Amino acid sequence: MRLWIERIFLIAITAIIAVLTLTALPVLQEGHLGGALLLLHMMASGALVIVLPLFALIYIGRSISRFNSGGLQRLGFWSLVVTGLLTIATVFACMLPVPSTDQMHQLIQLHRYAGFAMVPAVALLLVGTSRWRRIQSTRSATPG
Ligand code: HEM
Repeated sequence: MRLWIERIFLIAITAIIAVLTLTALPVLQEGHLGGALLLLHMMASGALVIVLPLFALIYIGRSISRFNSGGLQRLGFWSLVVTGLLTIATVFACMLPVPSTDQMHQLIQLHRYAGFAMVPAVALLLVGTSRWRRIQSTRSATPG
């Protein structure tokens, strides 16, 4: 049951990051996010704000033990948590009545880097997880 919950969360988080990245990609050419793409980006970001902390809570038990996870899997998990929290925090900080306009521009710049860094992080986690499962199934199929 726990394995299935982890799988569902992993699929959900991958899909959300895919939507966020695809909606953000045109920015690399055109400069700024706007219109329907920004709307879609905002919808997916709401989902990430809920799903990422839940996923982190569910997965953390596995990710602090080297008997329950592989090195690549742990690296992927922690990179995803750090880059994800930074991506969210930069937007959150913009909503506070504290930063100046210049600082907001810098925060959104940081948001871009942290957001795009979530892509290799989730890729590492997916590769690490499938590698760990393959090792486990080989071990349980090998007698002795
Ligand atoms: C894979 C994750 C993400 C990527 C790659 C990403 C990337 C980007 C990029 C490139 C922009 C355009 C910045 C600009 O116009 O200069 C942007 C804007 C924005 N993103 Fe994200 N983002 C991600 C996740 C999130 C999340 C989780 C949130 C909310 C918590 C969020 C909220 C926003 C907002 C509000 C804007 C509009 C900023 C503005 O132009 O005023 N994004 N994002």
